[in-house]
Amino acid sequence: MSGSLATVSYIGATILFILCLGGLSNQETARRGNLFGMIGMSIAVLATVFGPNVTGAGLPWIVTAMVIGGSVGVYAARVVQMTQMPELVALMHSMVGLAAMLVGYANYIDPIAAANLSGAEKAIHEMEMYIGVLIGAVTLSGSIIAFGKLSGKIGGKPLLLPARHWMNLLGLIVIIYFGREFLQATTIAEGMPAMIVMTIIALLFGVHMVMAIGGADMPVVVSMLNSYSGWAAAATGFMLSNDLLIVTGALVGSSGAILSYIMCSAMNRNFISVIAGGFGSDGGTPAPAGGANAEPVGEVSPILAAETAELLREAKNVIIVPGYGMAVAQAQHTVNEITQFLREKGVNVRFGIHPVAGRMPGHMNVLLAEARVPYDIVFEMEELNDDFPSTDVTMVIGANDIVNPAAQDDPTSPIAGMPVLEVWKAKTSIVMKRSMASGYAGVDNPLFYKENNRMLFGDAKKMLDEVLIALKS
Ligand code: TAP
Repeated sequence: MSGSLATVSYIGATILFILCLGGLSNQETARRGNLFGMIGMSIAVLATVFGPNVTGAGLPWIVTAMVIGGSVGVYAARVVQMTQMPELVALMHSMVGLAAMLVGYANYIDPIAAANLSGAEKAIHEMEMYIGVLIGAVTLSGSIIAFGKLSGKIGGKPLLLPARHWMNLLGLIVIIYFGREFLQATTIAEGMPAMIVMTIIALLFGVHMVMAIGGADMPVVVSMLNSYSGWAAAATGFMLSNDLLIVTGALVGSSGAILSYIMCSAMNRNFISVIAGGFGSDGGTPAPAGGANAEPVGEVSPILAAETAELLREAKNVIIVPGYGMAVAQAQHTVNEITQFLREKGVNVRFGIHPVAGRMPGHMNVLLAEARVPYDIVFEMEELNDDFPSTDVTMVIGANDIVNPAAQDDPTSPIAGMPVLEVWKAKTSIVMKRSMASGYAGVDNPLFYKENNRMLFGDAKKMLDEVLIALKS
């Protein structure tokens, strides 16, 4: 493929990526957006593999790597459950970080690249490598810790080391000092120790940053690492002089940063505080030890599936609030069947979606779209929160933290200040979950003990199946 054809292909791919991002911002156009993204990526890969920068001798290596990587990807896509997607995404971010790091080191020790550059050009290239390895290392270790936290392999409690902000500041100063050493080095052997020291500090910083963030703030970390992985890809693009990688990385980096900001606003958190590693955690009490085993603080009123069906049948206005448990139980299809049944009977059924429900941005929207719940009855939290007092029944399906009144009433709670869906303001709220266990943030939920609240204990799918049978009988 000629150089100009490769450039045209890159421009086409860039436009498709922009259209993809635009499409993904709306549920109705998300499928089309995804399609644009897939076509854009295929064009980008083909134009790179058959482009002027790959010589005949390099092709077998690239094809072998693509076959191995593609096989792992196909296998992962087939076996990974929907509920494991967030941790898979975190793991993929770590791969982007690792790639940026390896490209940085490979570039530095490449004798041809070193011989071709001198003066300011060489200094700029070395700066690109240093910054690329830095971002890559933070993304790599931070994403691995995020993977551990999201998969439950590492506890959600924030690790708040004494003088942690001073440690971060010291790390930054050391990285800047060694950056100077690195740029002044005249040989690879001279510059390598500085690069290695910086890499170790950056890896430790990534671990420290994510370990210091508490469970309820994890959504911001997920989107922030997404942004970092974009910047790491852009840095790789600079190192390899690949324009498409620079543009694509910048698109991912900036959209991830915007998403992090939106998440922070939605959760009433300060962006800088969260990324500085648990600044905001000082204000809250740590989650009760054991979370699920925390002492109950009152009496709960259980309800049966048949009684739930009776309440739904008599209701005029129903709001359904799905959460992570709906994803675990894969109950979205039964939810849709119940919704259809009630709507046919003239009940006004709507869905209230919290911005951090589930374990990844848009998690609930994806599940509801998969079950073909009509988009026009799915609302954002702020669109519905004023309507709970005029609602007869709210059904909370496997949600917990996002409907916790302690966020409003208890200033010492780790989730204090986070806006929540005010389901307890409805005439009756019904919470479907298997036990009294706490949610991701590990805090007890006073909603369960409210007078107008009922608990429908059991797996969400099983209980909703029973509700549907009772409704139809
Ligand atoms: P959670 O607060 O995690 O609560 C989910 C509840 O679902 C649990 O209390 C669990 O109780 C119940 N559950 C689990 N499996 C179930 C099943 N098979 N059937 C019925 N119930 C089941 O979820 P949420 O309310 O959606 O809030 C999300 C939380 O995750 C927030 O704290 C948020 O900050 C955090 N988070 C979000 C993201 C993003 S980007 N959305 C990323 C990371 C973390 P039982 O065990 O008693 O059934």
